[in-house]
Amino acid sequence: MLSRIFGTESEGAPGDGHEQIVLCHDRHSGLKAVIAIHSTALGPALGGTRFYPYASEEEAVQDALNLSRGMSYKNALAGLDHGGGKAVIIGDPNEIKTEALLRAYGRFVQSLHGRYITACDVGTYVADMDVIARECDWVTGRSPEQGGAGDSSVLTAYGVFQGMRASAQHRWGAPTLRGRRVGVAGVGKVGHHLVQHLVEDGATVLITDLNEASIARVRAAHPQVEVVADADALIRADLDVYAPCALGGALDDTTVPALTASVVCGAANNQLAHPGVEKDLADRGILYAPDYVVNAGGVIQVADEINGFSFERARTKASKIFDTTLEIFALATSDGVPPAVAADRLAERRMSEVGRLRTILLPDSHRG
Ligand SMILES: NC(=O)c1ccc[n+]([C@@H]2O[C@H](COP(=O)([O-])OP(=O)(O)OC[C@H]3O[C@@H](n4cnc5c(N)ncnc54)[C@H](O)[C@@H]3O)[C@@H](O)[C@H]2O)c1
Repeated sequence: MLSRIFGTESEGAPGDGHEQIVLCHDRHSGLKAVIAIHSTALGPALGGTRFYPYASEEEAVQDALNLSRGMSYKNALAGLDHGGGKAVIIGDPNEIKTEALLRAYGRFVQSLHGRYITACDVGTYVADMDVIARECDWVTGRSPEQGGAGDSSVLTAYGVFQGMRASAQHRWGAPTLRGRRVGVAGVGKVGHHLVQHLVEDGATVLITDLNEASIARVRAAHPQVEVVADADALIRADLDVYAPCALGGALDDTTVPALTASVVCGAANNQLAHPGVEKDLADRGILYAPDYVVNAGGVIQVADEINGFSFERARTKASKIFDTTLEIFALATSDGVPPAVAADRLAERRMSEVGRLRTILLPDSHRG
C-alpha cells in the first residue's frame, strides 16, 4: 500500500488552496485513487467517491480537486459542520471493482483518521459503501441494514423541490408549483422522486429521458405526465420551470437562448457549462436556483448518518434549502449579481466566519 500526501498550503503542490491531496496505490488489488481534501474549515471533509475510467492520472487529480472544492461550497450552504472533500478511483468499475480493491480503498480513507468521510457518487453504490465500511469508520451512504441512510436521492429530490418552491415564491409570489408547467430532464433516481413531489403539488409535468425503463416507471405511477422526445425538445416546450436532472452542462450557449421557462431549478451537478452562463440567464430574466444549493439534500441525508441516522431529522434539515434559496435570491438582488455568484459569496462568508471561530475555539486535535 503506497500513499503520497501533498499538503498544498505548506508545500505548494498543485491544487487551488486545497489542504491535502492523497495519491493511493495498492499493487495487490490494482487500486489507484486520489483523495482530495479542499477544506476542513467547517469540520471533517465530506464528499463521495467517484469510480470512473479517467484517461490519465492527471485528469483524475483535476477532477478530484474540482469536485472537492465544490463540496466545500455545497456543505457550507447546507449548514453542515463539514468541509469539502472528494475521492476518485481510477478505472472502469464494471471491470476492476472487487472486494479487495474497495477494502484497500477503505484502508486509505481510514488512514486519514476522519479528516475525510466518504459516500457514494458516480460508479459507487450503497453496497460498495458497506464493503468499504468493513475497513473504515468514516463511511456514509451505507445500507439501512448496516445503520446507514441508504439511497440519498430521496432527500436530494425533496431538497430540489424545496428550492423550486422558493423559486416560485420569488418569481410568482407563492411557494407552490400548482398550475405551473414543469419540465424534468432525466427521471432517474432523483428525477422520478421529484416528479412525485410536483404532481402532489398540482404541477403539470413534462418529462424526457434516454432510458425507456425510467420513463415507463414514471408513466406507470403518473399516467398524466407528458413525455417529450428529448432534452432539446423539452427546453423549447412551453414551460414555466426547467429542471435539469440528468448530466452536467445542461445550460450552455445553445440551450439558454432557447429556454422558454423563466425558472431553472434541478438536481444535476455543474449545470452551467462555463463561466458567464449565469449572466446570460440573468440577462434573459431567467431565475436560476444554483445547482449545488438545491441538490444538497443528499449530502444532508448522508451527513446525518454519522451520529446515527434519523430520516425525520435529515428531512427537517433539508427543508431549510427553501430558506437558503430565498436568502440567495435576496442577496443576488441586493448585490446586483446573478444568484450563482450570490451563492458563492454566502458560502465563502460562512467558511470564513465559522472557520475563523473554530480556529480560535478548538485545539488542534479537535479540528477537521
Ligand atoms: N443521487 C443523488 O443523491 C444526487 C445528489 C446530488 C446531485 N445529483 C445529480 O443529479 C443528477 C441525477 O442523478 P441521479 O442519481 O438521478 O442519476 P441517475 O443516473 O439515476 O438518473 C439520471 C437519468 O438521466 C437520464 N439521462 C442521461 N442523459 C440524458 C439526456 N441527455 N437526456 C435525457 N435524459 C438523460 C438517464 O437515462 C437517467 O435515467 C446527476 O447530475 C447527479 O450528479 C444526484
